[in-house]
Amino acid sequence: GAAKPLSGRKVVVTSGPTVEPIDPVRFLANRSSGKQGHAIAAAAAAAGAEVTLVSGPVSLGDPAGVRTVHVETARQMLAAVEAALPADVAVMAAAVADWRPATETTAKMKKTPGSGPPALTLVENPDILATIGRHETLRPRLVVGFAAETNDLIANATGKLTRKGADWIVANDVSPATGVMGGDANTVRIVRADGVEDWPTLSKGDVAARLVAAIAEALSKADAS
Ligand code: C5P
Repeated sequence: GAAKPLSGRKVVVTSGPTVEPIDPVRFLANRSSGKQGHAIAAAAAAAGAEVTLVSGPVSLGDPAGVRTVHVETARQMLAAVEAALPADVAVMAAAVADWRPATETTAKMKKTPGSGPPALTLVENPDILATIGRHETLRPRLVVGFAAETNDLIANATGKLTRKGADWIVANDVSPATGVMGGDANTVRIVRADGVEDWPTLSKGDVAARLVAAIAEALSKADAS
């Protein structure tokens, strides 16, 4: 049959939330099912790519034909992504916690009667997309980020494109009324330096397939020029 559109390409995908420990029994995390990121990893593998999926804790199984690396924290996710380089393409679909507790206590924090709740001191996590998008030596040829927003979708996505050094931002409205969070459908807009492309509402599987097709086309165009 015909050659698969991503055969010979290496793709790294992040998916799911990161989980940042507070103590042995508590954590801080983002809300993310991993459905969109896992669907992208599966679609890239189906298109013939060699795929590394770096995933935070999700209730989904590992996609077939994909090397899946399981991580918990943002720092572990960054290390696993860097270990997967060089790659032709990076698609960063994980919902990475922006902050982590400054210290992880090895003993469970105790509720002491009369002393009130403890204060949590947070420190900033590394930005994985920005680190990869601005990587001096191993930047993938195509770096794709996501922007889940509840307002000012395009302005925020365009800001991320420049700030994080991404080539494309897949922007979606995650206002509660849309049902995107945890749901099976997604309405996205592809934001590039040269303009915005609106896609119809699709299943997360169809968004993944269409994104993978666009990635394959961009790579082969770049090869031809
Ligand atoms: O700034 P914001 O979190 O909205 O940006 C979303 C994009 O950045 C997503 O592609 C997400 O995977 C990525 N990101 C990241 N590391 C972070 C924060 C976000 O890779 N610490």
